[in-house]
Amino acid sequence: MAKHIGILTAGGDSPGLNAAIRAVGKAAERSFAMNVIGFRDGFRGLVENRTVRLNGSALSGILTIGGTILGTSRDKPHRMPMGGQELDMTEVIIANYHKHNLDALVCLGGGGTMKNAYHLMQHGLNIITLPKTIDNDVAMTDVTFGFDTALGIATEAVDRLHSTAHSHHRIIVLEVMGHNAGWLALGAGLAGGADVILIPEIPYDVHSVADAILQRSQGGKGFSIVVVSEGALSKDAAARLAELEAARAAAESKKERKAIKAQIEAFRLEQLNNTMRLTRQLEELTRLESRLTILGHLQRGGTPSAVDRLLATRLGTAAAELIEQEVYGVMVAARGEGAEPVPLEQVAGKRRVVPLDHPWIRSARLIGVNLGD
Ligand code: F6P
Repeated sequence: MAKHIGILTAGGDSPGLNAAIRAVGKAAERSFAMNVIGFRDGFRGLVENRTVRLNGSALSGILTIGGTILGTSRDKPHRMPMGGQELDMTEVIIANYHKHNLDALVCLGGGGTMKNAYHLMQHGLNIITLPKTIDNDVAMTDVTFGFDTALGIATEAVDRLHSTAHSHHRIIVLEVMGHNAGWLALGAGLAGGADVILIPEIPYDVHSVADAILQRSQGGKGFSIVVVSEGALSKDAAARLAELEAARAAAESKKERKAIKAQIEAFRLEQLNNTMRLTRQLEELTRLESRLTILGHLQRGGTPSAVDRLLATRLGTAAAELIEQEVYGVMVAARGEGAEPVPLEQVAGKRRVVPLDHPWIRSARLIGVNLGD
């Protein structure tokens, strides 16, 4: 009997999603004679039964296109905003999965999607996930698709900022995305030759950064490029956050945990202006004119790099093969040159941050990049 599979994309979009949809769909249809449908806008499309048939013509011409032809959302199956309130829509999703006679559901996403997919797996659905995010922070995979494209864009930004920083003898701070992982900032900073790189994994001391810049200026380099990950925190802020997290872990009642969670969220909101604050502090401490560039969603848009197209195609076709073999409850991880299924329980709720002994960190230190510590 021909299998029926569904595909959805959830979380923030990332380059390579369409390449992955195309790979799953084409391999499923052409090599295994499966019927493939897509759900629109992440898990919401599964709740609202908004589908699109992913046949040959729908899958044609999408390899090089950015974003996702299916649309996406950050809606969670068990806490979905519906008519002004958040509802648990798990049962509706299960009913719609069966209504479409699905043998498997392929969820393309990052850390949040892994958790949501795991939740559905625990409710009996046959799930396979693919790791996508420009943040590169999904556990148990060498890399995620979207990262290479974003890395290229952020590196080009560092390259371009060099000439204007140099001409004006300025400090230019570049904020890049990455959520609470420093892969993008570290990679782009290193590839672009930044003088300072600040990442969430290494809390920074603004005086150490200012000293490094002053030393450059005394050595005749009147400009500096500082690449900052959006999640980077000063040592004080990181200590405060660690205190709050410890209090949350030790909280005895649900009410207390909820109150501390609200404090953590408020604290994180305050940190949103962190790079602007840092830019001003550096100007004050060094007396060098400083400017801030926030790269933002430019990093997520546009056509995927060749590396991301290849990765998405490798993982997407492997997903179709796994469904054919009825291997479910797994994420298709990139491992070396290949693709391997990893049980979802080893992925959900985990995040892969930059290890402090990572070769990129070592190289950065060896060439004299200031990492803020
Ligand atoms: O997870 C990808 C990401 O781009 C993060 O780097 C960033 O923090 C977040 O999404 C931004 O999300 P949104 O597009 O919903 O503002």
